[in-house]
Parts: sequence; structure tokens; C-alpha cells
Amino acid sequence: MDYNTINNSMQKEIADIKEYIERYLKSDIELIEKVSRYIVDAPSKKIRPILVAIIGKALNLEKDKSYKLAVIIEFIHTATLLHDDVVDLSGKRRGKDTVNKVWGNEASVLVGDFLYSRSFEIMVELHDMEIMKILSHATNTIAKGEVLQLMCVDQVETNVEQYIKVIQYKTATLFEALCECTAVLSNCDYEVRKNLAMYGRNIGLAFQISDDVLDYTAESNDQIGKNIGDDLSGGKITLPFIYAFQNCTKSQKEILKNIIQKRKIEDFAILRDIIFETDSLTLTKDKAKEFVVLAKNNLKVIDNSEVVSLLDFLAEFSINRKK
Ligand code: IPE
Ligand code: IPE
Ligand code: MG
Ligand code: MG
Repeated sequence: MDYNTINNSMQKEIADIKEYIERYLKSDIELIEKVSRYIVDAPSKKIRPILVAIIGKALNLEKDKSYKLAVIIEFIHTATLLHDDVVDLSGKRRGKDTVNKVWGNEASVLVGDFLYSRSFEIMVELHDMEIMKILSHATNTIAKGEVLQLMCVDQVETNVEQYIKVIQYKTATLFEALCECTAVLSNCDYEVRKNLAMYGRNIGLAFQISDDVLDYTAESNDQIGKNIGDDLSGGKITLPFIYAFQNCTKSQKEILKNIIQKRKIEDFAILRDIIFETDSLTLTKDKAKEFVVLAKNNLKVIDNSEVVSLLDFLAEFSINRKK
């Protein structure tokens, strides 16, 4: 199975969700439509709405609710990207110049706000306080994660536990929330709901760890659709760096401290060499694999084997992906 197989088997659902997205993007303000279409129409994986659609289908969730939830989640995700690219000073996203690069930080922040608040408008349409509770808490947690990450910038002594907390908050939360919300809307039993939520959290953790690996291993900017080395430029202490710092020699520690302080892309190759030399990428990938194993275990509560194999595949995909 590859990602296209999933895309093919969910073709109808993905097309329907696209229509819903179109509908909810409508605005009387021209710049909002222009900017939001620019990022929404750029090629992306759509893994979050696909997860909603797969789980929703497995749990016999009414299509209208499933698609609305998928749009809510994709809008929250897109809003965080618009804000994230401003914070990270990023110039490439989804293979195109970032919104902040084309229209400036103001437009990126404000259209991000538009998508965030639009997602809450759609949430209200679901008339479900439990959903409001999960998603308002999730968006708040994502913001906490981004601030916590900001506090760790340049902190070379950041440890694995602190790193995991950051990525659980900023990335895994949305995966956890989308799985749990799909379960809640489907009225499934508590055991299934909790395991699906944990499945989401675990693949979210694996997904972000592999994102941080790709920032060091991708062969080209085109491969990931983003600029390689953005983490270094932003002083981000991610797992490959943490392991390298823990396992390198005293003199290499000084080099690493210096590189992070200066944040020069010219030093990227030196940093990458130390990361390779200390075998940090293997350690990092092993950590991601641990979460994939946990995620697959969470699927034992689902008895539909076809669905389990799709969700198993997406768990693997979260670490095997090349972009
Ligand atoms: C990017 O998410 C942000 C992270 C959480 C790493 P995706 O990798 O899902 O981005 P798109 O939506 O496919 O562009
Ligand atoms: C993406 O995080 C934003 C959130 C998860 C909120 P990153 O900054 O780590 O991801 P990319 O590399 O820009 O996609
Ligand atoms: Mg970023
Ligand atoms: Mg970021």
C-alpha cells in the first residue's frame, strides 16, 4: 500500500471534503479568499481530514458531520501553518513561497485568524458541547506548545522529555482531538473513543519526530516543499540535535553551542555531520517507531480489519514519509 492507495480508496470522501472546504472559505473580503485559496490549493498530504474520513466511515458517522469535522481540523491546521511560518520566518511551504513571503506577515497572521475563527463557526454548527470542549482545549494546547517551544529556542540543554512535551502540545494534540471528535460524533463506546484518541496522539508524536528528521535528511527543498535547515535557522532544538548533544565529545559540544548561537545556515553541514557521527538519527527514528508501535496497539479495539489496515498504514506512513 502507498499513500496514493489511501487517496484512491477515499477519493469520493476527499472530493466531498474539498467541496465543503470551498464552501466554508467563501468571504466577502477578496484578500481572504485569495490568500486562503493560495495555501489550501497548494499540494499537501491532507492526512488529518483523511483520518477523520476513514475513522468516520468505520464508525458509521453521518457524512455531513464527518466532513464538517474534517474541514474544522484542516482549517485549524492551516491557521497554525500561517502563524507558524511567520514565527519561524519560513519562506517555503507546500512547495510554494509562503504567504508571509508573498503578502507579508500581516496577511498571514490575519488570514490565519480568519481560518481559526471560521473553524469555530463550523464547530457551533455541530451542536455538540463535547466537541466544543475538546477542540477549544486542543487549540489552546497547540498555542501553549508553540510558546513552550519558543522558550526552548537556543537552549542546547533541552532534554527528550521537554521536547516530547512541546511536540505533544503543538502537533499531537490536533491528531488526538480529530480522532476523539470523530469517535464522539459517532457515539461509540468509551473504550474505543479513548484508544482512538491515543492512536491519534501517538501518530502525531511520530509524525512530528519524522518531520524533525526530514529537516536534516531531505535531499532537497523540493522534496519536502519547505526549506531544509529552517529548524537550525530558528534555533530549534529538535530530537536529532538533543541526541547529538548528549552523545558527542566535549569539543563537539562547544561547536554545537556555537552553531546554535550563531544560527548560520553555512554551519548546517557541520551540525549535520555531528548528528550523523553520533548516530542521532537512528536514535531519533527509534523513538518515532516506539510511538508507531503504541499507535498500532491502540487499534486492537477496532474489529473492522479493512479499517485497521488503513490506520496501520497511516501510522507507518507518519514515519516513512519523504515529505
Ligand atoms: C506540517 O504538517 C506541520 C507539522 C505538524 C509537521 P503536514 O506535514 O501535515 O503539512 P501539509 O498539510 O501536508 O502541508
Ligand atoms: C508546525 O510546526 C506548526 C505546528 C505544529 C503548530 P513546525 O514549525 O515544526 O513545522 P514546519 O516544519 O514549519 O512544517
Ligand atoms: Mg515551522
Ligand atoms: Mg514552528
